[in-house]
Amino acid sequence: MKDLSEFDVKGRRVLVRVDLNVPLDGDVITDDGRIRASLPTIKELAEKGARVIACAHLGRPKGEPNPKYSLAPVAKRLGELLGAEVAFAGDVVGQSAQSVVEGLQDGQVALLENLRFEPGEESKDDAERAAFAEKLAAFGEVYVGDGFGAVHRKHASVYDVPLLLPHAAGKLVAAEVEVLRKLTENPARPYVVVLGGAKVSDKLGVIGNLLTKVDRLLIGGGMAYTFLAAQGHEVGQSLLQRDQLDQVRDFLNEAVKRGVEIVLPVDVLAATHFAEDAEHEVVDATAIPADRQGLDIGPRSRELFATKLADARTVFWNGPMGVFEFEAFSEGTRAVAEALIRSEAFTVVGGGDSAAAVRQLGLPEDGFSHISTGGGASLEYLEGKTLPGLVALEA
Ligand code: 3PG
Repeated sequence: MKDLSEFDVKGRRVLVRVDLNVPLDGDVITDDGRIRASLPTIKELAEKGARVIACAHLGRPKGEPNPKYSLAPVAKRLGELLGAEVAFAGDVVGQSAQSVVEGLQDGQVALLENLRFEPGEESKDDAERAAFAEKLAAFGEVYVGDGFGAVHRKHASVYDVPLLLPHAAGKLVAAEVEVLRKLTENPARPYVVVLGGAKVSDKLGVIGNLLTKVDRLLIGGGMAYTFLAAQGHEVGQSLLQRDQLDQVRDFLNEAVKRGVEIVLPVDVLAATHFAEDAEHEVVDATAIPADRQGLDIGPRSRELFATKLADARTVFWNGPMGVFEFEAFSEGTRAVAEALIRSEAFTVVGGGDSAAAVRQLGLPEDGFSHISTGGGASLEYLEGKTLPGLVALEA
């Protein structure tokens, strides 16, 4: 991949694909981590005198304009963080975008409206994607790919546009790829992975691949209940993916064969229902009452997980241990995060909810070696999949 320093960008129109897919409550941004992560590249380009045209998606508006998914609040926040006005285009490749791009001066930054308002962005039809890609590419003289969180999507702005313009990787993409390479190529051992989150089905591919790479796999969060059930335990009303039981049993057998230690919760916070103030008690993970649901790992599991992380030299963590958004059920996630912070290992937090949890729980972001901005993207990389956005940047 070319580095953006290889281009002389002064006075040139540079189209930068960033990932500004931030959580919103109405039009209030609840976590601006991804906007901040995109600043180094945008700033460097602007400081070098480029005319920066940033483009990004927000949510899944399915190919048509929808004010709920407008990037307008993001443009405002980006401007505040840059300390400079960001010209916001009210469409993606229409009149508004044309005039915003034409009006840009050297060193100025513009943001186009949500790419996914255009059906061509995500189209599975190569010709439809290509037609949209041409319009978008016409805005830039150079393309910089820096939307790491979206590199696993074969979308026009991620895959087709870089093939039409001289292109380079942005600073975020370069940093993320370097970290993931370190995890996959020669990780210092013991290499421990902590997986959580609601669904096993989202993580099947990565678990299969990790079993060939890691020394220890710690499983928490909603997906742990399918593992407990696969071992024959009653999980009450807890999240359970019955259709994944056979697959999970295969994983458990494969782990034994390969000498990979799988660590499951030994106790859980069993609640009467899914609510912030739900009545709950600590029960053994092997004895969850039929009318209760596990919403977090329990105190003995917190200690167990911390012990299993203590001697690690490389750690990758993806997915919360419980419903961390509810204070009463956030201690498991906090305990894992704190164990990583204490650790001297190379520690990587894999995007999405776990990165949001770190910030929401008020934990120091610099306590980790790296916090990825891409949940799905980093999992697919670790799964060994080919990521279209990286393929295009390498072309
Ligand atoms: C993400 O939030 O993981 C990225 O922005 C990609 O979004 P998507 O899953 O809607 O493609």
